[in-house]
Amino acid sequence: AKLLVLHGPNLNLLGTREPEVYGRTTLAEIDAELGRRAREAGHDLTSLQSNAEAALIDRVQAARTDGTDFLLVNPAGFTHTSVALRDALAAVALPFIEVHLSNPHAREPFRRTSYFSDLAVGVVAGFGAASYSLALDAALQRLGA
Ligand code: DQA
Repeated sequence: AKLLVLHGPNLNLLGTREPEVYGRTTLAEIDAELGRRAREAGHDLTSLQSNAEAALIDRVQAARTDGTDFLLVNPAGFTHTSVALRDALAAVALPFIEVHLSNPHAREPFRRTSYFSDLAVGVVAGFGAASYSLALDAALQRLGA
């Protein structure tokens, strides 16, 4: 199967960005580990990080016709703001897991609202870089690997 991982704004700074909140693992390390594990299970996985809402929306739209079967999405700050990225995921109607390194429910009140959770297959949050790994476990299980 074909998996797509989308990382929203500021996640390119992982490793140095508020390490007490997000940990010290870099985005490159996270993507490498996810790619390796997906390949081991016989799947294809690609990742995209963007700080731009438009780029993320365009990539979700492309997923409709490029054979993508499943997505892991960390919308980052767009989690709490982006009706447009939510609408893109609703439009392509592909299954996705919402991922967060931190637990947004244990932070500022404005992080408690997600425009994605009710559309997601499930949500993994609060486990640092391991949130992505746990989400991949769930995705692989669902894809029957
Ligand atoms: C985040 C949580 C969001 O509230 C925040 O805006 C992020 C990262 C996380 O992975 O913990 O940028 O999605």
